[in-house]
Amino acid sequence: MDTIETIYNRKSIREYANDEVSDETLLRIVEAAARAPSSKNSQPWRLFLLRGRALEALRSDYLNGFDQGKKPSFEYVYNPERVPESYKARAIALGRAIFAHKGIRRDDTEKRRQHDRENFSFFGAPYLFILAMEKNGYAFGTFFDCGLFFQNLMIAIAAEGLGSCPQFSAMSYPDILHSHIPASSDLTFIAALPFGKPFAESSVNKFTTEREPIEKFFRIVD
Ligand SMILES: Cc1cc2nc3c(=O)[nH]c(=O)nc-3n(C[C@H](O)[C@H](O)[C@H](O)COP(=O)(O)O)c2cc1C
Repeated sequence: MDTIETIYNRKSIREYANDEVSDETLLRIVEAAARAPSSKNSQPWRLFLLRGRALEALRSDYLNGFDQGKKPSFEYVYNPERVPESYKARAIALGRAIFAHKGIRRDDTEKRRQHDRENFSFFGAPYLFILAMEKNGYAFGTFFDCGLFFQNLMIAIAAEGLGSCPQFSAMSYPDILHSHIPASSDLTFIAALPFGKPFAESSVNKFTTEREPIEKFFRIVD
């Protein structure tokens, strides 16, 4: 696949097959991601891969937390205090579109809860990357560097014929994450990336998102 095609082929995958991904492929993905540029080559990212029993134990604690109504307690603020109206409108449109695709009605609280719950099972993925950074090492700039690394991960995963779904919701329970990831008390977790082979017959994986026409955000100045 050429690079542009791979970028177009990547989309969020929310249902997985259980196929094994070889260590060779896993390492190739991580090595490729680490080629991301960073200011002064500081490479502020840290990455964990959870799989097998370690992932099942985390998944079980996450689902228990969700089912018991554990309150999310994020380690960092994702959105500005006042979210611009244009961002809000797109978020609402996304919510409506995905619920419509899944046949979930606005007033169907149980199905909406199930939809939210899927985030806490990492969409059943057989592999989970967790991106982190040193607690005393983050600022807008280093977050930006980590975003470049994270995008590289997703593109490398897509280039290997696999799928992934970036997740902020998986940062809801940092206490649980810290308890499952040894020697992580000096780290802040940033995002999760469930990945694996997309489930072929999945309906949710057929969901696609639109983008604004580039005239909305792009201007040539000459
Ligand atoms: C940092 C980040 C966090 C996200 N968190 C979630 C999440 O918690 N749950 C989810 O289902 N999708 C999540 N998404 C996926 C977005 O909804 C998705 O990328 C967007 O709608 C565009 O769709 P696409 O990825 O299929 O192109 C997240 C994406 C990013 C970049």
